[in-house]
Amino acid sequence: MRYTVTAALIYANGPIHIGHLAGCYVPADIYVRYLRAKGAEVAFVSGTDEHGVPITIRAKKEGITPQEVVDKYYTQIKQSFVDLGISFDVYSRTSLPIHHETSQEFFKTIYDKDGFIEEVSEQYYDEVAQQFLADRYIVGTCPVCANPNAYGDQCERCGTALSPMELKEPHSTLSGSKPVLRSTKNWFLPLDKMQPQIAEYVNSHTEWKTNVAGQCQSWLKDGLRPRAMTRDLDWGIKVPLPDTDGKVLYVWFEAPIGYISATKDWLMQKNGNDAGWETWWKAKDTKLVHFIGKDNIVFHCIIFPATLMAEGEGFILPDNVPANEFMNLEGDKISTSRNWAVWLHEYLQELPGKQDVLRYVLTANAPETKDSEFTWKDFQTRNNSELVAIYGNFVNRAMVLTHKYCDGKVPARGELTDFDKETLTTLADFPAKIGEAIENYRFREGLSFLMDFARLGNKYLAETQPWQVIKTDAERVNTIMNIALQIAASLAIVSEPFLPFTAAKLCQQLGMQKSITNHQSLSHQWQDAGNADLLPTGAAIGEAFLLFEKMEDAVIEKQIQKLHDAKKMNELATKSVPELKPTVQFDDFSKLDLRIGTILEAERVPKSDKLLKFLVDDGFEKRTILSGIAKHFTPEEMIGRQVTFIANLAPRKIMGNESNGMILMAEDKDGSLSLLQPHKEVWAGAPIS
Ligand code: MF3
Ligand code: ZN
Repeated sequence: MRYTVTAALIYANGPIHIGHLAGCYVPADIYVRYLRAKGAEVAFVSGTDEHGVPITIRAKKEGITPQEVVDKYYTQIKQSFVDLGISFDVYSRTSLPIHHETSQEFFKTIYDKDGFIEEVSEQYYDEVAQQFLADRYIVGTCPVCANPNAYGDQCERCGTALSPMELKEPHSTLSGSKPVLRSTKNWFLPLDKMQPQIAEYVNSHTEWKTNVAGQCQSWLKDGLRPRAMTRDLDWGIKVPLPDTDGKVLYVWFEAPIGYISATKDWLMQKNGNDAGWETWWKAKDTKLVHFIGKDNIVFHCIIFPATLMAEGEGFILPDNVPANEFMNLEGDKISTSRNWAVWLHEYLQELPGKQDVLRYVLTANAPETKDSEFTWKDFQTRNNSELVAIYGNFVNRAMVLTHKYCDGKVPARGELTDFDKETLTTLADFPAKIGEAIENYRFREGLSFLMDFARLGNKYLAETQPWQVIKTDAERVNTIMNIALQIAASLAIVSEPFLPFTAAKLCQQLGMQKSITNHQSLSHQWQDAGNADLLPTGAAIGEAFLLFEKMEDAVIEKQIQKLHDAKKMNELATKSVPELKPTVQFDDFSKLDLRIGTILEAERVPKSDKLLKFLVDDGFEKRTILSGIAKHFTPEEMIGRQVTFIANLAPRKIMGNESNGMILMAEDKDGSLSLLQPHKEVWAGAPIS
């Protein structure tokens, strides 16, 4: 079997976070590594989506050009995937000439077949920014779920695909202004007319996940509408028709074609030309699988297949689109704009060597059927009580005991007990169970079987107790250690899709040959797992070392603190100054008697954690003023300072003390207070005017 497996071409407008990984990239990588281990032919393609409004919005925000944005994030994203062991065959980008050509050709082919409807329609236009407002340039209230921040192409809260006209109270994200309607010509894919074909295709895939099928059915039920495949924008791929200046291909038209371009890019890098690309896209025995997050479902299950159908040159259609739901973080939705995320490049830097821990936790908690949650506490628990205590512990005991009792060599098996036989049967059954889960996109289940497999090893050693038996029966210990090592060897093979770094280390410890390829794939195939003679008798094993380390509280606390700090910084950065109060006349202002006074004494007010009591020299006498600033200043630091105060405020009684006036403060963004002091010392009682 041959597989073309794609992982979403993420917008190159920001770094990768754990939500992207859990939703799409980690499951895709598990699937592909498994297929390769089974000996299947696979093309694993991905890359960055470098057009569309998200890119230009980011450029504006960072004050750089769109090209600089995509160059910066392409490089960063690509590297962080490599470092996490995501084993793409190619990581391409939609700005490459090969993609411009491929998608323009696609457009032309459909155009030449009269596959588009050419239509002059009214589109929103921002008169301040002097530009049409496509997709994310426009926000408004979602007609389905009332989210007030729905985009012109999609509501990210409920997943509904929208067109700008459907938004209630639309406004421009460029100028904030209310857009006007202006007519312009665009080319539409007549999804309405194509509905029967599309429905037939979707309905033929009864095996699709329910979350995926559900979204498709709700679209079909609403009735498909023609969708514009061009936009009035200047960043993107030019429409390949005469007189179309200022028009580009709709990003959701060209981006999925990027999977095809990426395949060509891969072949070109490998062979110097793209001959044979059709095998991956047109051969009937090639299975096309798209890994994506839930916000991309309709584009991959309806719009892209419709594009492929309209092109009409024998493209295969997606066989499955195992989209995941979203992963939340510490009780809140992951959000790039609010900086509530765990960023992959930072994780890799701050927790070096812990790629597999992240892969493990994201898979164990993957949002396969519903939204799930990442917490650092859970990360720590899974590391300490699963990876360390179960997997690592078993492997370490098998290794250490073999060195201790068997001279570091795989001992021969002698006569088998019933328990040995039972264990070997279970061993033989595990790989198929794990494989079946992976083939059905149930990666959580596959991973839990993998851990059960490690538990089998632990249980075997716990019950056979070689450390007791060694006192009386060294032969029996040879049998026990042989079986324990064979379990470990199979464990290495079936771990590879999930935990490739660990699998490689385990192979090294067991002295299993590992062919070094760019995918760290093992010389063993999946089919070898479960075999009780994987390690030949007499073969030397390597040195024992720990596969996982205990994660201390301090590490976790630091990460949690960092999250909260980042969010706070972001809130501060986006905080705006309060609105102005209504105008007052000069006469009203001049009624206030503002003065400078000098603080002579300061003390806390008993039973209050807020109040400080001051004795202030106001030039005539000494007056008492109370002020609720004890959380910001100590009495000691206030003594001797000159402050600004209101001198004719009617006396007020606060907690049994009469206060004669009010000290003025400026409140900073973060809520901290600053005294208003004259810039040089003045006489006490100096009037302010
Ligand atoms: N750029 C889109 C996103 O980040 C995904 C595009 S996937 C592809 O949500 F279909 F365009 F390839
Ligand atoms: Zn909505």
